[in-house]
Amino acid sequence: MTQDPVPGLLDEATRLLEGEFAALPGFAPVTALAADARAMERILAETARRLGDNYPYFHPLYAGQMLKPPHPVARAAYALAMYINPNNHARDGGRASSEMEIEAVGEIAGMFGWTDGPGSYLGHLTSSGTFANLEALWVAGQLAPGRRVVGCEQAHYTHRRISAVLRLDYGEIAADECGRMRLEGLEAELRKGDVGAVVATLGTTAMGAVDPLDGILALKGRYGFRVHVDAAYGGYFRLTADALDEPARRAYAALGAADSIVVDPHKHGLQPYGCGCVLFRDPSVGRLYKHDSPYTYFTSKELHLHPSEQKSLAGGPVHLGEISLECSRAGAAAVALWATQKLLPLTPEGEFARGLKRGRAAALELDRRLREDVRFAPLAAGKPELDIVVWAVRGPSAREASHHAQELFDACAARGLHLALVQLPGSWFGLAGGAESPPVAGGVTCLRSVLMKPEHEAWMGEIWDRLSAACAEVMSQERS
Ligand SMILES: Cc1ncc(COP(=O)(O)O)c(C=O)c1O
Repeated sequence: MTQDPVPGLLDEATRLLEGEFAALPGFAPVTALAADARAMERILAETARRLGDNYPYFHPLYAGQMLKPPHPVARAAYALAMYINPNNHARDGGRASSEMEIEAVGEIAGMFGWTDGPGSYLGHLTSSGTFANLEALWVAGQLAPGRRVVGCEQAHYTHRRISAVLRLDYGEIAADECGRMRLEGLEAELRKGDVGAVVATLGTTAMGAVDPLDGILALKGRYGFRVHVDAAYGGYFRLTADALDEPARRAYAALGAADSIVVDPHKHGLQPYGCGCVLFRDPSVGRLYKHDSPYTYFTSKELHLHPSEQKSLAGGPVHLGEISLECSRAGAAAVALWATQKLLPLTPEGEFARGLKRGRAAALELDRRLREDVRFAPLAAGKPELDIVVWAVRGPSAREASHHAQELFDACAARGLHLALVQLPGSWFGLAGGAESPPVAGGVTCLRSVLMKPEHEAWMGEIWDRLSAACAEVMSQERS
């Protein structure tokens, strides 16, 4: 694992934090007294050993799922906040961290072009992308009761499940050979006249595909429905949209016109897990969250709120707990996000955006090498839209291609290169159809690589060498 400056910095920040409370009379914390330092040391050593049983998510040779550790400043800020353990449900539980949440969420809203500050939109952090999407669909369902939600067949699987939890009917729209929602398919559903909300995904989980949001919004003008954008994975690519290919660039340019947006700081935003974010364009949807809670808001009335915040909720001051379905939420998550965005502002020309570009450059380079190698079948329709690459391994039939992919996945892992697997239609890789290559039910097993670490760019040579050698091994075993 690489060294980072966190231990020293955290000690210093902890001393400063203790200084903030220096006026309090001293006391002996019972937990610290009761805890035997040697026992803690032993348990932490055992913890470290147990944690060794993980894939090395921090290393560039881990290029499988959407996983990477948080930025060191996020880790340090989170750990610092743990001395307080604030709860951002209400300001009573997290006064400073609620302010930091409002500021950090405001910066995310600004990234999408919502720059008029708190009060011109509604937004907060959530424990996950799933919960953030649940809130967005919960709002959509209340605004259009009895109407359906539709999303692309490549949308995250939780949209169907969330809709079932909310008792909303959910329909799937077919994807094109790039994994994007087909607008003709959407329009056919819209003509039925019962669609209340469309989920557009900017950065699908399987392949980083970008639904044609601009086209979806044009249909909204004709048919009238809410547009929810699930940008849990791909939202931050808004910062680098100018460097994307045309269809994706147009989709990202339209993002500000969505009714709601979800983005996960715990995916591309360098945060520890437990950090999703939901944003609503119309702040008045806050009224839908209204509820009675006589025990949690006793300091609300004394709060110093921004005047725009005051007017954003009819009938009372904004309290993050009043605009969130979850009750307790980690204030530390907001603190970590705030600190990270201070260090790495969400600007197109900043270091953070450069990191996204490097991951995408790695994806394009892997795609280029795959296209030049006859052993592999990359996506026939074109290059990856973001930083996720999917490809099939050629075989005499789609069934054997699936088998090769599984074997290659294992052979790569044995060489320390960790990839992922995904089931996709064989025709997208030119594999399905034909007498010698019949389609396989459930699709063809393909390899998938999420190149979300900036280091992946410099490591592509090494990644390729291991992949290529593993493939040679699999093919020679196959022949013998
Ligand atoms: C596009 C998309 N939406 C939603 C989710 C769910 O997010 P979470 O795992 O944070 O609940 C994911 C997770 O991978 C995702 O990729």
